[in-house]
Amino acid sequence: MINQYINDNKDRFVNELLDMLRIPSVSADAKFKADVLRNAEFLKERLLEAGADNVELVETAGNPVVYGEKMVDPSLPTVLVYGHYDVQPADPYELWTSPPFEPVIKDGKIYARGACDDKGQMYMHVKAFETMVKTGTLACNVKFMIEGEEEVGSVNLATFVRENKERLQGDVILISDTGMLGNDTPSITTGLRGLSYHEVEVTGPNRDLHSGLYGGAVANPINILCKMIASLHDENNHITIPGFYDNVDDLSAEERAEMARAPFNLEKYKKALDLSDVHGEGGYVTMERNSIRPTLDVNGIWGGYTGEGAKTVIPSKAYAKISMRLVPHQTSEEITVKFKEHFESIAPAGVKVVVKPHHGGEPVVTPTDSIAYQAASKAYEDTFGVKPIPVRSGGSIPIVAMFKSELGLDSVLMGFGLDSDAIHSPNENFGLFNYMKGIETIPLFYKYFAEMK
Ligand code: BES
Ligand code: MN
Ligand code: MN
Repeated sequence: MINQYINDNKDRFVNELLDMLRIPSVSADAKFKADVLRNAEFLKERLLEAGADNVELVETAGNPVVYGEKMVDPSLPTVLVYGHYDVQPADPYELWTSPPFEPVIKDGKIYARGACDDKGQMYMHVKAFETMVKTGTLACNVKFMIEGEEEVGSVNLATFVRENKERLQGDVILISDTGMLGNDTPSITTGLRGLSYHEVEVTGPNRDLHSGLYGGAVANPINILCKMIASLHDENNHITIPGFYDNVDDLSAEERAEMARAPFNLEKYKKALDLSDVHGEGGYVTMERNSIRPTLDVNGIWGGYTGEGAKTVIPSKAYAKISMRLVPHQTSEEITVKFKEHFESIAPAGVKVVVKPHHGGEPVVTPTDSIAYQAASKAYEDTFGVKPIPVRSGGSIPIVAMFKSELGLDSVLMGFGLDSDAIHSPNENFGLFNYMKGIETIPLFYKYFAEMK
């Protein structure tokens, strides 16, 4: 009955997603504010149509949280669905083969900003919910909280969660905002890294100077910034910030051996990225480097003259955005302090350095022995024909750790994306196969969760 309903409504399920993908709900850029609100309204209407009650846009200091629920029976378990309707900026636009907010379907994939992260994956939950409501098979109570600021750190959602603990009571948080290893190798994400994010500013002379008249005699802030950044890793690519690794949870040999059983092909990995070799911390393999180990990366760097031709100048200022991905049991607060103190301390005489911390987030590991995980595992096994593998991811969803600390709830990260979906990159896409598999798998989660609970 469920599969029949999904099949009969497939085209509409896809078209509604395409409609939402036409809304450029970029949270990082204030010029899209009206579109962000339009997306929230759109979602509210779709939740109402799907059968949700008490649907509302909850105002926050930033973008609204879309809330809706269906309380079938207080004796049934309650699933809280989290997702986000905001997207990353689409820049650089010129690298898209079709415009980012004019979705097209090519080779079985939907191309658009947000196709996977997270509109496509979030909307699977709305359509799975509709399916369960309309076929009379909804086996749990459901609460939706879909936010519009995930891509900028979820600061206002954190406040919403703290202020709505009663309303958010439930048994588990269900999220599709991660990926899986492959369409033949389903996996469930069991960990996310935390984040400590900073903007740094190096100031040299009080104005841009002629690089011939002053060159060699005053500190060039770009030269200095590059040196300072380079010194943050040693020859083994270990991070040199004092105390950075103090609280890192080292995995046991058994845990690492278990991780190594997940399929991974280094040659394919390099080929997909057109790399002659991988790069990273000595003593760890790629799958460890990008999940269980902390990192430090420059996300952007600028200053001086970057226009056409040459301009001989020693700039007054240089800037960089630097982020660190964190693992249990590092905390963003601890690392923020350590980074700031260290970075300021290595500034040579002749420049001033200012470190401005941005948003942060805590790392999290989710249990695999919970009823919710087992229910998710059975659901994937039904629809994919193989048991999903638990895999820790390198990405961050800062609110997940807060769901645990504030609501006492574990999350199940039922992702259906692939690395090749190019989230945050030009030509982001999401397979129709993955979208429909999500819609089929989610109702089975509800069924098994209700049965096992
Ligand atoms: N959905 C991603 C996170 C993700 C993707 C986790 C794939 C695991 C697998 C999320 O939207 C995201 O991009 N998060 C940001 C953090 C945020 C604070 C900007 C990230 O990881 O950079
Ligand atoms: Mn996301
Ligand atoms: Mn994202």
